Amino acid sequence: MSPGGPAGPLRLGILLSGRGSNLLALDDAIRRGALPAEIAVVISNQPAAAGLERARERGLTTVLLPHQGLRRVEHDGQVLGALRRHQVDWVCLAGYLRIVGRELVEAYPERIVNIHPSLLPSFPGLDAQRQAFEHGVKVSGCTVHLVDAGLDTGPIVLQRAVDVATAGSPAEVAARILKEEHAAYVEALSLLLSGTWTVEGRRLRFLREETSKIS
Ligand code: GRF
Repeated sequence: MSPGGPAGPLRLGILLSGRGSNLLALDDAIRRGALPAEIAVVISNQPAAAGLERARERGLTTVLLPHQGLRRVEHDGQVLGALRRHQVDWVCLAGYLRIVGRELVEAYPERIVNIHPSLLPSFPGLDAQRQAFEHGVKVSGCTVHLVDAGLDTGPIVLQRAVDVATAGSPAEVAARILKEEHAAYVEALSLLLSGTWTVEGRRLRFLREETSKIS
């Protein structure tokens, strides 16, 4: 896979359900030239998602696809239709509170990325920051990973550790981690879009030494 190419920059489809701060971090990085990509479409399953409004304010193309009353496969089919209509190359989950079904995963093999607010495999699923706080861990962080058919189980691209020993609440844990998320998502995507990596079993391996470090 090569970055950009004659057809222009790689096209990202962002899926979100909420606030959208990771979307904004990706968009900021693109605008300052740190990520060789463009945001082709922002899709949300939640009409009230603040991230949708933020995307519109920035002039990004948005699509609302509520999931209520639909079977997962039907909703995923609609999402896939929108991704294809907008010629999306890579799908970025950015606070998308839905499990991505098999059809969608298979339509974009190793081309769906997620950011999760813990050091996986610790604390998968919802409310990872609260889980970390309640467990009393001293260090947590965030993980960018490829998406497979499981819950937060795909091969890890990059992790960033965050000291949470002195955090006084789940909200404080979340705030400390969120700051790192924004940088981590940009860095991970930029590594992935460069195409110099392979997946061997569970392990995503970068082919250039300077990109193989875990930060
Ligand atoms: C982030 O903590 C992300 O790790 C998790 O959902 C949250 C989304 O935040 N998957 P935002 O909507 O990007 O601000």
